[in-house]
Amino acid sequence: MEQVTKQETEEILRLAEKVLSAAGDFVELGCYKGETSLLLARLLKAHSSDKRLWLYDSFAGLPEKTVEDASTAGEQFKAGELFVSKREVVEKFKRSGLPFPVIKKGFFEDLDPAADLPSNVAFAFCDGDLYSSIKTSLKLVVPKLADDGIIVVHDYNNPELPGSSRAVDEFLRAHADFRLAQKHTLAILTRR
Ligand SMILES: C[S@@+](CC[C@H](N)C(=O)[O-])C[C@H]1O[C@@H](n2cnc3c(N)ncnc32)[C@H](O)[C@@H]1O
Repeated sequence: MEQVTKQETEEILRLAEKVLSAAGDFVELGCYKGETSLLLARLLKAHSSDKRLWLYDSFAGLPEKTVEDASTAGEQFKAGELFVSKREVVEKFKRSGLPFPVIKKGFFEDLDPAADLPSNVAFAFCDGDLYSSIKTSLKLVVPKLADDGIIVVHDYNNPELPGSSRAVDEFLRAHADFRLAQKHTLAILTRR
């Protein structure tokens, strides 16, 4: 796995498995090459779940950082970094023989919540690296989250990408009905 450690992947899959009976679909905001996406799709198939997997990415790499992302440790994360084509992810899924996900190309900020997201979300993996990307992801997902759904945000307390923690902490200050658990650099958000 290129972007997510083995331990984090195991935790993501364990959490996703926990919400297989919650209402709604699985979403991944920031799918990059689709490595975690494939594992989520495999999990759904293994459980014969009728949930769909929805994937989102600019397929143009990272957007510009904002002041909240400033970090000398994370200077490699420049605009346009982590570019991957949508075709690469499409081909990967075709080869896998797994059920094909919904794949939406574009910046999160341009998504239409009604048209571009499922009506209910059971599990969300938010992995957009930057403050504005995580902030927008939470804004899109939270109104759709099942009561017993789970949101996992990557790069929490990762000094290279401080914007992720800033967006999560800011979200928690404004949403007293959510609680945080942390495992590795995963912020796990659930309703109280
Ligand atoms: C770290 S990678 C995701 C890794 C992937 N989740 C995995 O497990 O392999 C971050 C991705 O988020 C995308 N991204 C970041 N901010 C975005 C935004 N505001 N809109 C759309 N895509 C964004 C980037 O293009 C990049 O592909």
